[in-house]
Amino acid sequence: MPIKTSIVSATQDGAIALAVEKLLLGEVIGLPTETVYGLAADAQSETAVEKIYKTKGRPSYNPLICHVSGPEMAARYVEVSVTAKKLMDIFWPGPLTIVCARKPKSKIAHAVSANLNTLAVRCPANTTTRAIIAALDRPIAAPSANLSGKLSPTTAESVYKSLSGKIPLVIDDGQTSVGIESTIVAVGGDKITLLRPGSVSAEEICDAVTLPVHDRDTSIITAPGQISSHYAPNARILLNCDQPNGHVMIGFAGTEGDKDLNLSPEGDLTEAAHNLFEFLRLADARTNDVIAIAPIPNTGVGIAINDRLKRAAAPRTNDNQEITND
Ligand code: TXA
Ligand code: MG
Repeated sequence: MPIKTSIVSATQDGAIALAVEKLLLGEVIGLPTETVYGLAADAQSETAVEKIYKTKGRPSYNPLICHVSGPEMAARYVEVSVTAKKLMDIFWPGPLTIVCARKPKSKIAHAVSANLNTLAVRCPANTTTRAIIAALDRPIAAPSANLSGKLSPTTAESVYKSLSGKIPLVIDDGQTSVGIESTIVAVGGDKITLLRPGSVSAEEICDAVTLPVHDRDTSIITAPGQISSHYAPNARILLNCDQPNGHVMIGFAGTEGDKDLNLSPEGDLTEAAHNLFEFLRLADARTNDVIAIAPIPNTGVGIAINDRLKRAAAPRTNDNQEITND
């Protein structure tokens, strides 16, 4: 039976209390973060976390990020090395997820980390969501609030479009500022490994802690989300196009193409990341065929944009193959 899905503004009186109430009842709800909207549940409840996987159609072996109110809350559940603590102090609250060893007696549901002995922790910058976590006084598990295999949502309307009838509540705090998912690093002792590029660049991390940031050894998959996968619009994606050649085109800087779909006419990569998923959605609504995309410089957050575009352009798996998306 479909359930009624309400969208409630983050600024409405009682919005935080309502979200907390739903989470304490073991419900799964849509919450804003600065990167993309999350599909949130009480991270200590195995049954609530199972509901996340079911609602998204996500394979149970692909672990979730545990959202915390700060380093102190993280330290209740994971081993925080000196390097991990430095990263938390410098980049939190903000779009950096840190994968640490789980504490043996951690109360986080095993479904959150898909039975791995590590746990990904992140302190989101969105003040409403942080207030909800603080009021709960325990973390929330939240993947991006899209159906598995689809684009991450950057507005409450996008969450509603894909999940209405499946969740009771979406808290609306407008379009997310960053627009792409958080940077993920694994930290073991003082070794930092980049698992997913995001708006916090490897250079920034390296400069902040004066330690090298290693690339992931692509021959070893520690979590399925690391497999080359697609964040798929329905249309086919053609990368590095200088011209539309008759296709719907998402431009960047000076390239021609649909004028309202230029990720950043000024060539600003931060603005381009902010617009990326929304413009892919808009372009997808205009064609069943091909979306052409301008070249994006592969520096700073451009690396994360190109990572998402490469996944969107990757050959599509069919439903019977292993699902590699999150
Ligand atoms: O910005 C974000 O990170 C958003 C917002 C909602 O916080 N969340 C998000 O979650 O993008 P999700 O589930 O769509 O992507 C999380 C990624 C997945 O690729 C998963 O495999 C990886 O994090 N991950 C989670 N736990 C991990 C772990 N213990 N070790 C390695 N990778 C992990
Ligand atoms: Mg995702």
